[in-house]
Amino acid sequence: MADIDGLKDTKNFHPEIPTAHDGFYLKGAHQLDWGMRNRLSRIFRPSTGRTVMLAIDHGYFLGPTTGLERIDLNIVPLLSYADALMCTRGILRSTIPSTFGNGVVMRSSGGPSTLKELSNELIAVDIDDAVRMNVSAMAVQVYIGGEFETQSVKNMTTLVDMGLRYGVPTMGVTAVGKDLTRDARYLGLATRICAELGAQVVKTYYCPEGFESVTAGCPVPIVMAGGKKLPEIDALTMAYNAVTQGAAGVDMGRNIFQSESPAAMIQAVGKVVHELMPPAQALDFYLTLKREHEAAAAKK
Ligand code: R5P
Repeated sequence: MADIDGLKDTKNFHPEIPTAHDGFYLKGAHQLDWGMRNRLSRIFRPSTGRTVMLAIDHGYFLGPTTGLERIDLNIVPLLSYADALMCTRGILRSTIPSTFGNGVVMRSSGGPSTLKELSNELIAVDIDDAVRMNVSAMAVQVYIGGEFETQSVKNMTTLVDMGLRYGVPTMGVTAVGKDLTRDARYLGLATRICAELGAQVVKTYYCPEGFESVTAGCPVPIVMAGGKKLPEIDALTMAYNAVTQGAAGVDMGRNIFQSESPAAMIQAVGKVVHELMPPAQALDFYLTLKREHEAAAAKK
């Protein structure tokens, strides 16, 4: 046992140096617990504060959509380019290698298929399983203006409560029904409701007019959803506009996995998101990588 006599006076308190204050780099997250911030750091790259999240959760209501027929063959090779992966727990357990070390955002709501009213969702995951799978966040669809608006908001607030108990963030996903306009007024309303009711991250669509007001009015990070497949230059331009107008990255699916060259496309999106590479240059980057991949494939 250490002798308590003759201890040296310690001099290493450095009272002249203020204790470092970790302001944290993500909007609205500086007062969250350590575990939650750590999980957010697995989604949003600390060096840029932005993310390239690859969304492959479409099967939870769409089944095996184009590009997602064989996730083992088509998606697993892309994982090294993604800061985070958004998927269901079924795909995570069955197909995604457990060596994947970046963020996992687990789809945590579900119920109806495309054959039914989509807004009639319920929570589809227990927090115990989210923690067991070490996910970085849970994602829940929120149908503002939809038939089951209140039920979907309740799904989100329940997940937020469960997530706060265990340090798991919740991402509110603003789902736009057929009859709703994706303009700044609507997206501003939907994103703000998600944040006000506790979501630590919000995913929403881009709108060409007034997107800055949507991001500025939301006190937590917004990630941009990709939407239907566009020509590569248009998808890269949309991603560029979103991040230069305040989005903390993208959560893109079809515009990556339905691209002619998904590996080239996700890397080009990464250049836009993390380096703010202008769209025309990012398209050149995409085309160069695509040619290289094609040449390598032809040699096999
Ligand atoms: C749809 O509800 C899913 O949550 C997708 O994750 C989302 O739509 C993003 O994928 P995409 O870029 O294909 O629209």
